[in-house]
Amino acid sequence: MQKLKKFFIRTYGCQMNELDSELMVGLLEKRGLTKTDTEKDADLIIYNTCSVRDLAERKVMGKLGILSRKKKKALIGIAGCMVSLKKERLLEKFGHVDFLIGTNNVHEINDILDQLLKTKEKRAHISEKSPLDIDYLSAKRASSLKAYVSIMRGCNNYCTYCVVPFARGREISRQSFQIIDETKYLVDKGYKEIMLLGQNVNSYGKGSNTSFADLLGKLDNINGLERIRFLTSNPHDMTKDIMYAMRDLPSVCEFLHFPFQSGSDRILKKMNRKYTKDEYLQKAASLKEIVPNIKLGTDIIVGFPTESENDYQDTVEVFTKVGFSLAFIFSYSPRKNTVAYRFEDDIPLDTKQERLHKLLDLYDKMLTKEKTKMIGSTYEVLVEENNKDGRLKGKTRGWDKVIFDGDQSTVGSIQKVKMINYKPQTLIGKIEN
Ligand code: SAH
Ligand code: SF4
Ligand code: F3S
Repeated sequence: MQKLKKFFIRTYGCQMNELDSELMVGLLEKRGLTKTDTEKDADLIIYNTCSVRDLAERKVMGKLGILSRKKKKALIGIAGCMVSLKKERLLEKFGHVDFLIGTNNVHEINDILDQLLKTKEKRAHISEKSPLDIDYLSAKRASSLKAYVSIMRGCNNYCTYCVVPFARGREISRQSFQIIDETKYLVDKGYKEIMLLGQNVNSYGKGSNTSFADLLGKLDNINGLERIRFLTSNPHDMTKDIMYAMRDLPSVCEFLHFPFQSGSDRILKKMNRKYTKDEYLQKAASLKEIVPNIKLGTDIIVGFPTESENDYQDTVEVFTKVGFSLAFIFSYSPRKNTVAYRFEDDIPLDTKQERLHKLLDLYDKMLTKEKTKMIGSTYEVLVEENNKDGRLKGKTRGWDKVIFDGDQSTVGSIQKVKMINYKPQTLIGKIEN
């Protein structure tokens, strides 16, 4: 059997993929392989792919095309959402690819390699069903302070533009004791912050007797856990219980990624988002009322089929009314398999671009205003690591990134940092004694 020594892994897409890659890294290291950041040194190359927008896929396709033209010495595998969607067709298209791993099979990486090395047979390993017994303790986390903790897999929402339900399967919640045990293990190892992951964390535990708010309560009880964050919350499933948990539980941070996608009721309906503009505005207002100092994040899609100037203005209105400290703004990209793929993609590219850029400009102004307001005040910051320029960097509870001078020995601790300046995209602070 050929002995593999070094592997290279590149991750595209969201935090779920990052966690899946961390799991593969941990399992490959257990097998005795060493991770390399230089692709050409590797005898195993894995791309963990994303399909959410066309651009995400094109990036991977481009990479695979380049690899096929090079003299091949490494084994090449594709993992992730693109695999779950395109399946065996990827092996037909890219003859130099040796194996495929679907989103529900990443934990089987070593068995898949054993089989490949023994039989030399190119294969796709794709399970439809989400496994619930994944041992995430084997994951090699990118940070030694913050860790992703998966609380559910898949998505049942079927927003009409989105491939995720097809790429990641039906929604399944992990059992709360598994999540608590994993978090305790991480805290024992010195982790200070966890980010709970799911496509729709608010609906955690549907059909069981532990709701998402209950889960937050149980995790908050863990001694030594400083911060809990979570991603992503669907406005439709946002309850008062969760808002109260955010207010009352000391370790739950006051930042909520709360994507509204569009401000137009007509478009929201066409997107199958299951809430209206007013319902969204009301929930955002309740959040601000109930959770002191809460900051909100959003995702927005512009140029969804039939989006008129009026619809777009509704989006602008919600965006300005609510005010966001984090926003990801996308131009609509039609995806195969989805319901919206059958709608005509009728908004011209330059209109999409114009709407996108206008919102980005607005966002820039909003950020400058919001961050400048913070100057002069002091915030709790978890010191995460050295910045490239030798200073330290970290985040407030409200997800503001801050750069500041300070001693290396403070990395891993929570410090009081006074904000002194905001340069485009960066808050500058100073540790208070
Ligand atoms: N579960 C999360 C989102 C996961 S996908 C949620 O519901 O909020 C991340 C973001 O990508 C989405 O919020 C959406 O804004 C964007 N997105 C998804 N499909 C898209 C498409 N076809 N075109 C453009 N943006 C898309
Ligand atoms: Fe996609 Fe909607 Fe599920 Fe988010 S909630 S992953 S946007 S289908
Ligand atoms: Fe992309 Fe899959 Fe995440 S499509 S955004 S990597 S769930």
